[in-house]
Amino acid sequence: MAESTFLKRTYNCGELRKENSGKEVILNGWVDSWRDHGGVRFIDLRDRYGKTQIVFDLEKDKSTHALAKDMKREFVLAVRGIVSERPEGMVNKTMPTGEIEVNTEEIVVLNASQTTPFVISDELDVSEDLRMKWRYLDLRRNFMQKNLMLRHKICQTIRSYFDSRGFIDIETPMLMKSTPEGARDYLVPSRIFPGSFYALPQSPQTYKQILMVSGFDKYFQIVKCFRDEDLRADRQPEFTQLDLEMSFVDEEDVHREIEGCFKALYKDILGLELQFPLPSMTYAEAMNTYGTDKPDLRWDLQIVNLNEIVKSSEFKVFADMVSGGGTVRGIKVDGKADITRKIIDSLTEYTKDQGAKGLVVLKVTENGLEGGVSKFLSDNEKKAILETFEAKAGDLLLIVADTVKRSLAVLGNLRLEVIKRFEIPRNEDFNLLWVTEFPLVEEDEETGHITFTHHPFTSPMLEDVDKMFTDPVNVRSRAYDLVMNGYELGSGSIRIHQRDLQEKIFDLLKLSREEAQEKFGFLLNAFEYGAPPHGGIALGLDRIAMIFAGEDSIREVVAFPKTLRAFCPMVETPSEVDPEQLKELGIEVIKQEEDKDD
Ligand code: AMO
Ligand code: AMP
Repeated sequence: MAESTFLKRTYNCGELRKENSGKEVILNGWVDSWRDHGGVRFIDLRDRYGKTQIVFDLEKDKSTHALAKDMKREFVLAVRGIVSERPEGMVNKTMPTGEIEVNTEEIVVLNASQTTPFVISDELDVSEDLRMKWRYLDLRRNFMQKNLMLRHKICQTIRSYFDSRGFIDIETPMLMKSTPEGARDYLVPSRIFPGSFYALPQSPQTYKQILMVSGFDKYFQIVKCFRDEDLRADRQPEFTQLDLEMSFVDEEDVHREIEGCFKALYKDILGLELQFPLPSMTYAEAMNTYGTDKPDLRWDLQIVNLNEIVKSSEFKVFADMVSGGGTVRGIKVDGKADITRKIIDSLTEYTKDQGAKGLVVLKVTENGLEGGVSKFLSDNEKKAILETFEAKAGDLLLIVADTVKRSLAVLGNLRLEVIKRFEIPRNEDFNLLWVTEFPLVEEDEETGHITFTHHPFTSPMLEDVDKMFTDPVNVRSRAYDLVMNGYELGSGSIRIHQRDLQEKIFDLLKLSREEAQEKFGFLLNAFEYGAPPHGGIALGLDRIAMIFAGEDSIREVVAFPKTLRAFCPMVETPSEVDPEQLKELGIEVIKQEEDKDD
């Protein structure tokens, strides 16, 4: 056997314990920190498994002690030495290897390192720009290593669960035809067909439905998707879906599979027991009670409707709003009646920023409702308000009068804002629920244009089909979302599998027959060859990993994410390409105004 070209590790840096004392070992790793105590020098050597203290003792070995002087952070070393128990009082209980150290006999620098732009440490707050530019150094940090290993474990659990349930992992093309997920497509020009383009998949939606027509019955895939849309903490231009589709199923069947998968994830990743079936709430309930279709139920705090109580109130702001078709609703914050004027003003300001006209703040005292607007309310109204809120002395009531849509949206956000500001303790760390019966389509307030809520392959609820052309916005669909901790984790639906119903939906969306045939003819045709009833769902894998890791941005669980401007500062992409490449593709770049400026 050829001799190794370097001192190869016999153990990793997180592995050695008291029991290994006296053993000669070789470790490979990075210099995490360096301390010089004169006669004794110490290095903490790091790899992804942990850190081990390396000792260079002048009295024991002069030459290695001298060499250690030149070691710097992030040098890559091979160290040969003897494991020894640390002397009494030197044990570090916070490190798994804290009971031992390695006394060096030989040290080889495998590679030097320049001074890094930031110290590789979890404690340090490094700016997002620096982290992204030097991502390979950022990824050396312990918490990023943990996050990516957690993500790996999540994928392993998901794969093994769906395999055990008879699902087949089938890859679908990355070069495909534009899909209607609602975002802008990333396009890929074709060299062979100049002027024609592939689209990167926004999701494998049409392919997975076609796989059902092909008889694959239960499909899943962990798959990259691409959407050119406004980015946020929970949105990247390329992201990963756990995508699945099943034949001969209804909503319950899809839900039970996902619940089984989450039961396994809770157990493997969080060490928790998930109770199922999961709670389920209709879209209408979620909107009315929490002002959002992705309620964070780790807190109770529900929105309460006061219309009946205040509809003929002396307080005209309330009465006029109700008689004008609007609504008066509010939330109760337990025990916060003692907040200062300043906080009240800033909550009011927040509410106005959200688009509300104002905020009524009422304090509950031993004598009932007091302060501000309460003087315009009758005793009966006050009593009924207290009862509806189930309010007690010391509670704070925050009330908004507005259109139904705006008051719910504002109160939904205000709910989250007060939870954050007052640090209201949550009932649990993780909360999962289904939201069902989404509207099939929505109407753009300005243009009156009708668009789909989920995607155009979603089946309407059969009992609502009659209303499709007379009252489309009140048609409920067979779509459902999985919501966790206030994030939309996944969306899915039972699909349409008949050509005529699918065509009716396209009619509703004002897609001409020609356009429909041109865009989705392949799917419409497939429906004519024995398409089984089917349905499925896709979950955002990045979001699952983010929540399980306790992070608040998916960038923390993606190895090489893009900035909010869809740029990668590390490899500096997007970037210009060789004019020859463009010529070959028959593409000419039109300079935009902002390009000319710089
Ligand atoms: P939808 O468009 O709702 O459904 O996407 C499913 C899930 O994917 C995640 N997600 C994202 N994650 C990060 N960055 C993004 N830009 C991003 N966009 C979406 C979310 C979301 O819930 N084909 C359908 C599913 C189906 O009907 O089966 C679809 O893609 O967690
Ligand atoms: P005004 O009659 O405009 O002086 O308002 C009296 C109180 O009602 C003030 O505290 C306003 O902030 C509040 N207010 C006004 N309009 C609304 C509204 N639409 N919803 C809730 N509070 C409001």
